[in-house]
Amino acid sequence: MPKISDKGMAMPSSPIRKLVPYAEAAKSRGIKVYHLNIGQPDIKTPEVALDAVKNLKDNVIAYSHSAGNLTYRKKLAQAYKKFDIDITEDDMLVTTGGSEAITIAFNSTLNNGDEVIIPEPFYANYNGFAIQSGVVIKPITSSIKNNFALPSIEEFEKLITEKTKGIVICNPNNPTGYLYSKEELMMLAEIVKKHDLYLYSDEVYREFCYDGNTHLSVMNIPGLEDNVIMMDSVSKRYSMCGVRVGCMISRNKEVINTAMKFAQARLCPPSFGQIAAEAAIETSQEYFDEVYTEYIARRDFMVKGLNEIEGVYCPNPKGAFYTVVKLPIDDADKFAQWILEEFDYNKQTVMMAPATGFYNTKGLGKNEVRIAYVLKIEDLKNAIETLKHALEAYPGRVL
Ligand SMILES: Cc1ncc(COP(=O)(O)O)c(C=O)c1O
Repeated sequence: MPKISDKGMAMPSSPIRKLVPYAEAAKSRGIKVYHLNIGQPDIKTPEVALDAVKNLKDNVIAYSHSAGNLTYRKKLAQAYKKFDIDITEDDMLVTTGGSEAITIAFNSTLNNGDEVIIPEPFYANYNGFAIQSGVVIKPITSSIKNNFALPSIEEFEKLITEKTKGIVICNPNNPTGYLYSKEELMMLAEIVKKHDLYLYSDEVYREFCYDGNTHLSVMNIPGLEDNVIMMDSVSKRYSMCGVRVGCMISRNKEVINTAMKFAQARLCPPSFGQIAAEAAIETSQEYFDEVYTEYIARRDFMVKGLNEIEGVYCPNPKGAFYTVVKLPIDDADKFAQWILEEFDYNKQTVMMAPATGFYNTKGLGKNEVRIAYVLKIEDLKNAIETLKHALEAYPGRVL
């Protein structure tokens, strides 16, 4: 039989999706599964975006420009001004979700075997993107003990070799909900300048910052124009993950010109998706205010509820809609499977993402899970109650 590629063998399955068969089996047994495992919000997509697709008059669904529709890029550049990000339509490529923005950014700037440093736990799909691009991830561990703050400059310096080409951050962070401070970002800027590195910044959760904290984009750090590549997406901003539209932004012309060659090879980003994304720019502030209020309420409810369970520690996330939670268990992978396969409470159970998949260092995250608070409070209430009973019944409970 012909062989599978080394890349194919090395490709990890997603820790977010790998338990799906167990969830499906639970559902077929008549059990209600609360999905706290995936960042698929139940928030309604803005009406303006839905209407734009419904009212489409085109007779042919054609390819778009490889960099994305010009009308969309122009409006998007204008929309970034709201965040004081001063860019033009030529500084960006529209991509198939933020996911493609990351793979195009890696492929445009990194060679096989080049290293990027990423604070862990990190968005698990960075592993897959790195394998596709032949890039080696060097993790720098952040800890639940200080709510996943950025490690010190010295820790970063220890990992830098002649192979290091970049640092990847996700701000606000998935999976930890951590929001980087200005001081932390300036520290990163210093390292990036000193070692002439790229700074890849995944800002898909930019709008989700809580408790009066504001988001500082790396695009606004002076002197990093040639180093910074920012990745963005409409998936979470407008709760339209399925339209598959994101973008890659850089003021480094050579990077954008190179990325354009990758963009041409895959022809274009989704045409329907761009129509929805362009229309979504007109979304009212009222929509965002409502969504924001809802997420704060969900977060507060979840943090309180989880911390009331014996042996559980849930940090208070300052951004995005995730948190990594410490549970009194022996093994998060076993527990996440067991709760779907062998447990129910009043015909309900919970799906969570074991945190081991978000750490690159083997053995870390064994008693942690990532929880996405993307469900309404009533559902969160049932999910937390179910989790509480599951922890009491779990044979591998460790207090
Ligand atoms: C941190 C982060 N980056 C990128 C993505 C990819 O998003 P999309 O490809 O839907 O734009 C996600 C999706 O959950 C994410 O959490």
